[in-house]
Amino acid sequence: MKKVLIVGNFKSNKTEKESSEWFEKFSENYQQNFEKEVVICPSFTSLSSLSKLIEEKNLDIFLGAQDVSSFEEGPFTGEVSARQIKEFCKYSLVGHSERREKFSEDQAAINGKISNLIKAEIIPILCISEIEQLDRVGNLENCIIAYEPMHAIGTGEPLDPSLANDTLGKLRQKKSLGVLYGGSVDSKNISNYTSSFDGILVGTDSLDPLMFLQIINNA
Ligand code: PGA
Repeated sequence: MKKVLIVGNFKSNKTEKESSEWFEKFSENYQQNFEKEVVICPSFTSLSSLSKLIEEKNLDIFLGAQDVSSFEEGPFTGEVSARQIKEFCKYSLVGHSERREKFSEDQAAINGKISNLIKAEIIPILCISEIEQLDRVGNLENCIIAYEPMHAIGTGEPLDPSLANDTLGKLRQKKSLGVLYGGSVDSKNISNYTSSFDGILVGTDSLDPLMFLQIINNA
């Protein structure tokens, strides 16, 4: 990956109106930077309005979904298919640890999601907390990996950068599009990770537009 990828994951936060307000504030202060690629992953309900705002302001910012259906289109009430998110998204998260843990998402479902995304030409950002979770992944070579140790997510206690780098070395041996670090990244610690990883995945500190801007500036 040539550019440093900075991905903000809003999780189940922000209404459509709040996401648009976030974006207004963010875009007032955002400066285009050709060495960094910024991706925002809001809820499905905010994808359409954020996509319009990005287009209106003609910014080099991309959208990602937080999840996608493991099924294709059809009688799957409540699911959102890869073709539906393709209208708005260049990327989609897959297999976030919150989904694996709280929604019992298994490898078969994750593989289905990855294959639907690739078919729709959306780049999967496959989240893992253990290297072993890559063992049965199909199509890994077309995914970006986001390495997020469980204990570092949302705790304010990121993984020690030297330990993160040990794992990065192992992840580099697998064929993928790139490797991100995630877990309690903030504007002060970000450069510890962007010096070796291809980018980062930020949850908590992406919720405030000015904090997210600071993260981008310091990446
Ligand atoms: P965090 O979340 O930045 O709040 O630790 C990261 C994530 O869950 O992707």
